[in-house]
Amino acid sequence: MNTKTYNDLITSSKMYQLVTERLDLKSTNNSDNFEKFEMDAELMELILDLYSSDDEFPYQNMRKFSIEQVLNYLQASHRLYLTKKLPEIEQSMLHIFSKYGQSHQLLASLAVFFNDYKNKLVAHIKMEEKEFFPYVKKVISASKGELNKEDVLTGSPIEDFDDHHGPIEDDLKEVYHIISQFSDDKTTPLPYRVFLNQVELFELELRKHAIIEDHVLVPMLKELEASLA
Ligand SMILES: [Fe+2]
Ligand SMILES: [Fe+2]
Repeated sequence: MNTKTYNDLITSSKMYQLVTERLDLKSTNNSDNFEKFEMDAELMELILDLYSSDDEFPYQNMRKFSIEQVLNYLQASHRLYLTKKLPEIEQSMLHIFSKYGQSHQLLASLAVFFNDYKNKLVAHIKMEEKEFFPYVKKVISASKGELNKEDVLTGSPIEDFDDHHGPIEDDLKEVYHIISQFSDDKTTPLPYRVFLNQVELFELELRKHAIIEDHVLVPMLKELEASLA
């Protein structure tokens, strides 16, 4: 096998793992019916395309999936970030800090920066889990006649969401740049490279996650709202 094919293979299996690992995390929330949806293999395939290419994503291809499926994927992703991704990155950060903190002054400010970032991300996810997603679920229930639509369509949570849904991954890029400028490739110690790799993948992950929220979930929701109004 030549190097290029081999690298492609490594990259695509990494991507595959990146996309599917959230499915292994079982929800502990048994009262949430939306958690019980099975992930569609075709949907996973499409999401994999979104992750592995920088081209314009064919959002319309996502339309054949239900809003429940999309929501379920996003919820599973949040779970992955909070229970696995953030703790892993934090652990790498602490490892670097304990090893090089004395000699590398910059690490202290990086640790502070990362900690602030983590708080921001957790707040972002909590807002979606506690305000936005519950609203989406109510609209879905109303569209099925399980809830009174007048009770659901009060205020305009969707516009609030559109206005306030800022990119949360940009600051992570900053973390990456701080640490990569700090040492050139040849001398970067392994723990730094591990950390950089984790941060880079997580940044990609969050960028794609936001695309699904803004360009798939929100349009589906707006359509559903319009059908109720
Ligand atoms: Fe989210
Ligand atoms: Fe978000």
